[in-house]
Amino acid sequence: MNAIDLLRKQHDKVADLFDRFEKASKPAEKSEIFEEIAANLVAHDAIEREIFYPACEKKMGLTDLLGEALVEHGVVEFMLYRADENLGKEALDHHVTVLQEIVDHHVEEEEKEFFPRVEKAFSKALLEELGPKMWARFQEAIAADFRGPLAENLSQVLAGAMKTKPAKKPARKAPAKRMDAKAKTPKRGVRSRRHPRMHEVRRQRRAQRDFDGIRALAAGADLRCPRRKGGPLAPQVEPARG
Ligand SMILES: [Fe+2]
Ligand SMILES: [Fe+2]
Repeated sequence: MNAIDLLRKQHDKVADLFDRFEKASKPAEKSEIFEEIAANLVAHDAIEREIFYPACEKKMGLTDLLGEALVEHGVVEFMLYRADENLGKEALDHHVTVLQEIVDHHVEEEEKEFFPRVEKAFSKALLEELGPKMWARFQEAIAADFRGPLAENLSQVLAGAMKTKPAKKPARKAPAKRMDAKAKTPKRGVRSRRHPRMHEVRRQRRAQRDFDGIRALAAGADLRCPRRKGGPLAPQVEPARG
């Protein structure tokens, strides 16, 4: 399947899920459908941001439509985060309605304005080549809990990024130190390494701080950097306790 057909198909699936959400009456059913919407949107965001949009930028430059699309993805992520905070509550409906309005606007611009330009700029062969790569990444992304990548992207957006990058995968476990059998000390020339989990612990602490920033924003805190009025949003919150 070519890249554009794949993206259109995913837009249709999300539209169907929004319809199902609207028709659902039980809170548990609504929560379940919302989680499906979120998983699909976060995985769709991954393939557009990581594969499709960079290919478009390479071929066509950072056009107004592409720049606006990237900003809109950040807004969608913020609404997904807020809706998820209201899972199981009455206010979930309001959040999903606003989320749908933003997604509908974004999809309409992509399908009616952006994709036709891409189809002119790209060869059919290139779109066919991108499709399977995007599909494979989508499968990988949708298999994971959407909340991790959502928090990661949103923290980057709040830190001022327009083009977010996926979190680095955890470092592979370091091989065991070669020990001298008698002395039980590392062999000469074998440098001691930090505990392999330290990197992961630091990454989790950073993610927690970013998450605190997002929560403070959701709670209505003024996150503007005091030295740069009107500058990019930067979390200014107390460190997490406990
Ligand atoms: Fe899209
Ligand atoms: Fe998009």
